[in-house]
Amino acid sequence: MTRGRTLDHAAAVYDILSPLMLLGQEQMMARPCLKYLEDPVIHDVLDLGCGTGTLTLEIARLLTARCGQVVGIDAAPRMIEVARKKAGIIRNVRFDVVAAEALPYPDQSFDHVLSTFFFHHIDMELKLRAIDEAFRVLRPGGSLIIVDVDAPTNLFGRVCAWAGYYLFKQEEIRENIEGKLCLAAERSRFGAFKRLAHYQGYVSVLQLTKGF
Ligand SMILES: C[S@@+](CC[C@H](N)C(=O)[O-])C[C@H]1O[C@@H](n2cnc3c(N)ncnc32)[C@H](O)[C@@H]1O
Repeated sequence: MTRGRTLDHAAAVYDILSPLMLLGQEQMMARPCLKYLEDPVIHDVLDLGCGTGTLTLEIARLLTARCGQVVGIDAAPRMIEVARKKAGIIRNVRFDVVAAEALPYPDQSFDHVLSTFFFHHIDMELKLRAIDEAFRVLRPGGSLIIVDVDAPTNLFGRVCAWAGYYLFKQEEIRENIEGKLCLAAERSRFGAFKRLAHYQGYVSVLQLTKGF
């Protein structure tokens, strides 16, 4: 279905292990992207590579008051199974088993797209395709927010980023370290990006906005 590195094998333990992998900083780096959802015109949100849906469910809570809804997608069926269980009876969230580079949604169907720690799971060609798909499904004026490993800017960042690469032997992480996520953002249909924040010397928050 995708050559992205899916995490079916880790679905049962992801919520326990993932915070440890990022030295407990995961929430600190991912949660601030919720502030970009505060604009009340945002109703329909898409979370790419949502994993077990922890952030997706927070987004659902945030959108409840304005009757908005969020769709979380992941190419790993077991991750989606866990996410659906966690969602229980929450009505304004849906989880689909879908690859980010081939979204089954119509053009201009979302106000906002976001993605946390997903893009280091796909190679350069898929990064470009996934970003272009986000562009296609976004309504004009909407943004794609990406939180992910980027080119390190200090010693601590270099140690963390390269440790991740050697631990998982994941070429897609090396690509991010080499700045290819930003390159994909520039080469995409968005044509440009803004770096909104940079954490721990190796994780960036990128904003790509679709013009009117
Ligand atoms: C590190 S997890 C991030 C999960 C979640 N966003 C978070 O911040 O905890 C990366 C996720 O990307 C998924 N993935 C890998 N390739 C994919 C693809 N081509 N399309 C959609 N999801 C994919 C994996 O299955 C995994 O659940």
